Amino acid sequence: MRKLKLWLFKKGWINIHPDAIVHPTAFVHRTSIIYGGVKIGENVQIGPHCIIGGVCEYPNKRLRVCNNGPVFIEHHTILHGLNTVDGPNEFSTVIENDCTLMKGSHVGHDCFIQNNVTLSCGVKVGGFSRVEAYSTLGLNSTVHQKQTVPRGSMLGAGSFFKTDKGRHFKIWVGSPAKPIKPNQYLIDKLNASINSNTDIPKG
Ligand SMILES: CC(C)(COP(=O)(O)OP(=O)(O)OC[C@H]1O[C@@H](n2cnc3c(N)ncnc32)[C@H](O)[C@@H]1OP(=O)(O)O)[C@@H](O)C(=O)NCCC(=O)NCCS
Repeated sequence: MRKLKLWLFKKGWINIHPDAIVHPTAFVHRTSIIYGGVKIGENVQIGPHCIIGGVCEYPNKRLRVCNNGPVFIEHHTILHGLNTVDGPNEFSTVIENDCTLMKGSHVGHDCFIQNNVTLSCGVKVGGFSRVEAYSTLGLNSTVHQKQTVPRGSMLGAGSFFKTDKGRHFKIWVGSPAKPIKPNQYLIDKLNASINSNTDIPKG
């Protein structure tokens, strides 16, 4: 059965590699390709024309239909369409829970996208980068390879992030991006949710 499925996948008749694991509650649009070694979690939605896993992009690296190591897309994450998530070159590529990838955003090989991250349309995250929890990357912004976008960052539209002096909960703009002010909107939002979670119900 696996051999038949692999043959069908290679011929392009089915879009999910037999070695991929897709949770029964997840949705994968029929035009999206899921390569081997990909694991898709509970309630994940993969919209049209996405490519998940497969060979990571390196100069002269040939396209192969293969099981290229682990890619994890964890629970409740949404890929709106035209998204690409590369398979790893060395370790694994991970997108954690409750993330949103808007149309045309790309996650490079070996990236680690933490919980509650939003990538707006056209964002490019270079290989081996980490985008920490609650960050939002604005329209068409770019993260240079091997960078860490600190927790709770807002990266302005069209900005280019490359620094080793990251500080949490800041708004970054420009090329190269510099922090201009605290990400007050997010700070207030998280504080509000912490306070409401710790409220003790009366009675
Ligand atoms: C970064 C951002 C959040 C800042 O918004 P803000 O807090 O209202 O800040 P302001 O508009 O007051 O701008 C503050 C300064 O940053 C500059 N700036 C704002 N956004 C910038 C950007 N994307 N690139 C370069 N500079 C930017 C402004 O020119 C201003 O400079 P000044 O103080 O010298 O005049 C916003 O401009 C942005 O880029 N949002 C992303 C929108 C987006 O991609 N949404 C996704 C939709 S799907």
